Amino acid sequence: MKGFINEIQDNDMYVKDLGKMIYDFCGLNYLNNPSSLALKVSKRLSVLNMSYREYTEFLKRNQQEWNNLIELITNNETYFFREESQLNELSNAILPQLRNKKCIRIWSAACSTGEEPYSLAMTIAESGIVPLESVRIIATDINRKVLQIARRGWYHKNSLCFRRTPKEMLDKYFFPQDEGFQIKSFLKDRIEFRHSNLLNDEDMAADEKVDIIFCRNVLIYFDSVTTRRVIANFYNRLHPGGFLFLGHAETITGMNTNFETINARATFYYRKRGVESTPF
Ligand SMILES: C[S@@+](CC[C@H](N)C(=O)[O-])C[C@H]1O[C@@H](n2cnc3c(N)ncnc32)[C@H](O)[C@@H]1O
Repeated sequence: MKGFINEIQDNDMYVKDLGKMIYDFCGLNYLNNPSSLALKVSKRLSVLNMSYREYTEFLKRNQQEWNNLIELITNNETYFFREESQLNELSNAILPQLRNKKCIRIWSAACSTGEEPYSLAMTIAESGIVPLESVRIIATDINRKVLQIARRGWYHKNSLCFRRTPKEMLDKYFFPQDEGFQIKSFLKDRIEFRHSNLLNDEDMAADEKVDIIFCRNVLIYFDSVTTRRVIANFYNRLHPGGFLFLGHAETITGMNTNFETINARATFYYRKRGVESTPF
C-alpha cells in the first residue's frame, strides 16, 4: 500500500514537471490543472509504455515527440466567419485605410485548421476595396497536424466549421468535392501556411512586418506573463499604426502596452501607436 501511495505521489510530481516543460515550451498553462493534463497525455503514455518520469526524460531527448504532445494538448476549435463583427470592421474601417498600399500583409497567428485565414481572404474578396492579389496572408500554428488540414483546404460537408457560413459564400468560394467542400485555389494562393511557435524567439524573429494581426482565442490559454511576451512580439512585427485583433474574451486593455484600443460598433480591437514612416 505504501509503495502504491509513493508511486501516485511520484506521478503527481512528474505530471507537474511536464506542465512546467509545456509552459516553458509554448506558454500553454496547465500549471494549475495537472489532472486535465494527465487526462490528455495518458493514452500517449500507454502507447509508449512509459511512466511520466520516463516521458519527461524522453521529451528532453526527442524533439520530434513535442509534435505528438502538441496535438494532444492544444484546443483547435475554430470555424469560418467566427466573430463576424471583426471581419466587418476589417472591410468597413481598415481596408479603406490601406487601399493605397501595394502589398497588404496580414498575419493569422494560431490559425488552427485554416478557417480564420480563409475567412479573411473571403472577406477581402467580397469587400472589393482592395484587390485580393495585393494581399498576402501568413497563417501560422504550433500544431503541424492542423496545418496539414489547413494547407489542403478541404472540409467535410457535415463539419461544424460551416455553422456560420452563408450558402452564397459556400457556392462562390468552394467547390463540392467528395463528401465535402474544397476552397478555391485563387484564395489558397493568397495564404502561406507556416509552422511557428508564438513562444519561440527564433520563430518570432522573422523579419517581415505586417499591417494586421489576427490572434484570436489563443491568449485565453496563456497567463499574463506569457500574454505580455506575445503582445511585445506582435508590437515588433506590426508596422506603426498597424492593427491587432484578439478574441472577444481576450483583452490587453489596462496592460499598459503601446496599443490604443479602438472601440467599434460591435467589437473592439487595437492599434499600434505611431505613424507609418515609409509611404504605404
Ligand atoms: C482555439 S484555436 C483558435 C483558432 C483561430 N484563431 C480562431 O479564433 O478560430 C487555438 C490555436 O492556437 C494554437 N496555439 C496554441 N499555443 C500556441 C503557440 N504557442 N504558438 C502557436 N500556436 C499556438 C493551437 O494549436 C490552436 O490551433
